[in-house]
Amino acid sequence: MPGGNAMKKSDYENAIEPMQEELVGMARWAKATGARIVVLFEGRDTAGKGGAIQAVREQLNPRQCRVVALAKPTEAEQGQWYFQRYVDHLPSAGEIVLFDRSWYNRAGVEKVMGYAEDAQVALFLEQAPVFEKLLVDDGILLFKYWLATDQAQQEERLRERLDDPLKRWKLSPVDLAARDRYDAYTEAREAMLAATHTTHAPWTLVDFNDQKRGRLTLVRDLLDRLPDMQVAPPEIDFPELGREPKAER
Ligand code: ADP
Ligand code: MLT
Repeated sequence: MPGGNAMKKSDYENAIEPMQEELVGMARWAKATGARIVVLFEGRDTAGKGGAIQAVREQLNPRQCRVVALAKPTEAEQGQWYFQRYVDHLPSAGEIVLFDRSWYNRAGVEKVMGYAEDAQVALFLEQAPVFEKLLVDDGILLFKYWLATDQAQQEERLRERLDDPLKRWKLSPVDLAARDRYDAYTEAREAMLAATHTTHAPWTLVDFNDQKRGRLTLVRDLLDRLPDMQVAPPEIDFPELGREPKAER
């Protein structure tokens, strides 16, 4: 769909703003009720995970809503139970954690790039639903999003990264290798969905060929999946200053 039909920036901004207000309400609700929220953002390289996460967190308190984007596992982490380093980042009461990539690395990049053995991937696909059941049964609200992009879009975005000095840092050697493995990623994604799209923790696939439409769809869906979240903002007494405001010095 390159170019052409993309959504206008002003239309996007007008549509996202009221949803961000609803997200602020969601955060207030989480704080008042002690809800714990986890949102996973997965997708191919260049899918637009970063922008989607930014849209969710933009108006929220960064202490309440954290982003977790883990680097490749250290040697010590490689010696641990696979899920261990993710467990460290799960939310406490009232917190919202957005995972920019997640434990699903094992079924995606680690499988396709050969960082994990086939047996480790198979074990992961078996254990992920069990792991997620533990979280959900404990009351964590877990949402899993797959941001879907066609190969033509991926090509266009990789090219942009190459050409734009502000985006160049995003172009990693892993991205370039993944470029040659579009079909391998498709196969890995199918296996992942087949094994981990469960009743207790279903996936939601969102079309991210147009990133702005994708973000709007994702945020709307997230808000609709949350329970009724009406908590009035606290009354704040804000008396008149009673004198002329002073200039900064
Ligand atoms: P990103 O696309 O998230 O900016 P990269 O493209 O560099 O980052 O890497 C993609 C993912 O692959 C990251 O989550 C990274 O942690 C993971 N990764 C890279 N190298 C390894 C490795 N040797 N073993 C396991 N995971 C790795
Ligand atoms: C994203 O999806 O936000 C970025 O494109 C990161 C990446 O290249 O994987």
